[in-house]
Amino acid sequence: MRLIHSIAELRAALLDARETAFVPTMGNLHSGHISLIELAGQHGRPVVASIFVNPLQFGAGEDFSRYPRTLEADCAQLEAAGCDIVFAPDAQEMYPEPQTFSVQPPLANELCGAFRPGHFAGVATVVLKLFNMVQPRYAAFGKKDYQQLFILKGLVRQFNLPIVMLEGETGRAEDGLALSSRNGYLTGQERAEAPRLYRLLRAAAQRIESGEAAFAAIEQAAADELARHGWRVDYIAVRSRATLLAPQANEPDLVILAAAHLGRTRLIDNIECRLA
Ligand code: PAF
Repeated sequence: MRLIHSIAELRAALLDARETAFVPTMGNLHSGHISLIELAGQHGRPVVASIFVNPLQFGAGEDFSRYPRTLEADCAQLEAAGCDIVFAPDAQEMYPEPQTFSVQPPLANELCGAFRPGHFAGVATVVLKLFNMVQPRYAAFGKKDYQQLFILKGLVRQFNLPIVMLEGETGRAEDGLALSSRNGYLTGQERAEAPRLYRLLRAAAQRIESGEAAFAAIEQAAADELARHGWRVDYIAVRSRATLLAPQANEPDLVILAAAHLGRTRLIDNIECRLA
């Protein structure tokens, strides 16, 4: 496995590659990322992972400066998983001049976007830059970041990028907690409480699957339950899988998305469900 820091070296290494499979990350890898590496490797070679904590997608007061940077441990995991190239540029390499052009994605003010202004513009902009650097045939993203994946699929479609998007299922701990680099911020007590989020999403999904269509009541019940256990809820929302907007009457293919804070940690999760 090669560790590459510069765009010039990356381009030279990939000059003849036509089937590159790419996994963009911010590092501090867990088994959810590793399953994306494996998914990528089932589709194309070489497998390229990027590690870059992208300042553009963090708002003021968010965790950019304390986001864990664990390059050595990440490289060991990537090598063991069969990754061929790790691309780890620094901020100067990625943004040698102020990034005054940016992608303005739809839904940027919905769901997580309503609480993290500029976040999805920052994500879409860095991913477009990374796509241009790596020029992959395949790119793998996890469904835990459901809105991110939805927006990036739109980016690929609407800008005609010749990239096949691969979707990885959310990796979970045994108690159901979605794997996330941010789980490392949780105290012991918070970690014990954290699986409640997915438990409530599952309960909400069951109500919908058994035919209940009073979505506002379902959302409110889950939010109240979280608040009762000390969470600060950003949102719990039943949305259309096709649009990520409020579902039309009787629209069957739905997803419930949630974001809530436990202490200093913001957790997100989601579950797909079908209205019976
Ligand atoms: O999901 C992430 O880790 C990041 O948002 C991404 C896609 C690597 C862009 O910085």
